[in-house]
Amino acid sequence: MKIQKNKLHKKFGVKITGFDMKTNTKPEDILMLKTLLDDHAVCAVPHKKPLSDSAHIAFSGLLGPVARRSTPKISGTGLRLPYNEIVDQSNLDAQGNIYPNRDKRLAYKRANRQWHTDMSYRTNRATWSLLSAHVVPPKGGQTEVADMRAVYDDLPDKMKLLLEDLTAEHCYWHSRVLGGGPEPTPEERITRPPARHPLVHVHPTSGRRVLYVASHIRSISGMPKNEAIDLLNELKQIAIKPEYVLSYNWTVGDVLIWDNLATMHRGTNFDDQRYIRDMRRVTCREN
Ligand code: OGA
Ligand code: MN
Repeated sequence: MKIQKNKLHKKFGVKITGFDMKTNTKPEDILMLKTLLDDHAVCAVPHKKPLSDSAHIAFSGLLGPVARRSTPKISGTGLRLPYNEIVDQSNLDAQGNIYPNRDKRLAYKRANRQWHTDMSYRTNRATWSLLSAHVVPPKGGQTEVADMRAVYDDLPDKMKLLLEDLTAEHCYWHSRVLGGGPEPTPEERITRPPARHPLVHVHPTSGRRVLYVASHIRSISGMPKNEAIDLLNELKQIAIKPEYVLSYNWTVGDVLIWDNLATMHRGTNFDDQRYIRDMRRVTCREN
């Protein structure tokens, strides 16, 4: 089947039809997809039916090494999906029921509605995330993505100079608490230690510069806390202008792939007490 491409946004993002992640697994298919991702940072790949978890994992492994759950889960969480490579981004518990409103596991999922980039709190960061839609709510629950290469390009020179040598500390728990979740227990906290990364990095395959910010950032090296908060807010306000952001409207069977080293993203609100939203992610990592 012929592959067709349609832009998702003026600056970035492309939807490809006629590409099936179950069968388009040859080296030339992967090369084509990686080239598209380098150019567009985000790629939507619709399928007639949701991919099976095993096909989802197998395809992701062709892009790069896949992150696996190596740390114990957040206490109290059961595993709905029996794969260490799948991050369950649904609002469902291990039995397939919607989490009650006050459940801390739901609170931590809701924290993904803040702008972030995946696994920036790891030394070995996420490269591509592949999010697959199994059930989508009738209203809300779009995913928004910001083009952080374009954002960087357009920053004033004075700001570029200020950012040049700054390093940020990213911590998973920081964004969980900021997003309305409870403080982790000491046992939970040690499962995900913080990591430091430059605020600006050179994108490994396109060679373009990227503003690498996320709600996981809890401090900036050598900068007083208030100043860091102000700077991060200023950068975020620039990055989330419509000229840099695409909003993806899900259909069951879609897989959205984004480059975490070139973008920032967030889930948007939906009635998570009334509707099921079953989204599953596989994440590639740097090495
Ligand atoms: C993710 C994520 C947002 C969404 O899977 O990493 O942030 O819309 N998802 O579910
Ligand atoms: Mn995410």
